[in-house]
Amino acid sequence: MLVLGLETSCDETGVALYDSERGLLADALFSQIEQHRVFGGVVPELASRDHVKRMLPLIREVLAEAGAERTQIGAIAYTAGPGLVGALLVGASCAQALAFAWGIPAVGVHHMEGHLLAPMLEEQPPAFPFVALLVSGGHTQLVRVDGIGRYQLLGESLDDAAGEAFDKTAKLMGLPYPGGPEIARLAEVGTPGRFTFPRPMTDRPGLDFSFSGLKTFTLNTWTQCRDAGDASEQTRADVALAFQQAVVDTLTIKCRRALKQTGLNSLVIAGGVSANQALRQSLEKMLGEFKGQVFYARPRFCTDNGAMIAYAGCQRLLAGQQDGPAIGVQARWPMEQLPAI
Ligand code: KG4
Ligand code: ZN
Repeated sequence: MLVLGLETSCDETGVALYDSERGLLADALFSQIEQHRVFGGVVPELASRDHVKRMLPLIREVLAEAGAERTQIGAIAYTAGPGLVGALLVGASCAQALAFAWGIPAVGVHHMEGHLLAPMLEEQPPAFPFVALLVSGGHTQLVRVDGIGRYQLLGESLDDAAGEAFDKTAKLMGLPYPGGPEIARLAEVGTPGRFTFPRPMTDRPGLDFSFSGLKTFTLNTWTQCRDAGDASEQTRADVALAFQQAVVDTLTIKCRRALKQTGLNSLVIAGGVSANQALRQSLEKMLGEFKGQVFYARPRFCTDNGAMIAYAGCQRLLAGQQDGPAIGVQARWPMEQLPAI
């Protein structure tokens, strides 16, 4: 079955064609980052309007890239939530309209399930069961995964998501949006050991996270340096490195706990922050203790993309799931509510 996947939950229009027999045939992405950067973050109304403009040209693009005709498309998968409602509605309306016109089924996909399954698109996919660390701009969750739709939430962030902490901290330090890649780039030239920041919530049991205090700690350190007349690029890099190390260590400590608690030795990391090289290295080192393996998607499929939605939708369609013609999206949507397949 050839599935067209549409992703519009935030500021990226992602479109892909996934074939259940042949794998991923084509994917295309338009990132709105440049348009939102001047505002220091995503402006929902601008995001929705831009998805409208990009969607059909991107669908034509993937069809051409795959050398496929639209009549070969057997179903459409679209992101139904969680995300920005206006942005989600563009993808959902487009998917339902095309599905109706072409007489094929449509299925709404959970954005975080898409992220979670993105490493399945790689050459060496993980096998169930595994622990998943979902780290995106909106979510930080540790999940035990026993199969598609068989999710047990082990822990989550009580305030800012990891990506959100990167973005907000970067903004406070005068760096452009999105902050994750900016901080990662600066951290590469930071001086190890100049600053050490706290590892929040690691001194007590449990698998929940809190990154909001770390953001404030980082701001205070940066402000103190600046007030003391040291706002050099090197100091900014040193602060960025200390922040990144604190986030990476905290995530690593909690992943170690989750693996011990579940008795598993397979870890999947997914979502935008899983593109972070320091995080990947730290987790790979930690998995050595368990003689286990870390799985992640190629960087392009860590952040939002259509391929993960086409893949997740395809699995659910193959299991007989599909939606009616109603256009329904959800801003909030706990992943544990998804049916198992
Ligand atoms: O998964 P994603 O594309 O969108 C959401 O579903 O939220 O994640 C975007 C987040 C942003 O907060 C961005 O700053 C962060 O992922 N991010 C990174 C890196 N690349 C993207 N954070 C840290 N290091 C990176 N290399
Ligand atoms: Zn995402």
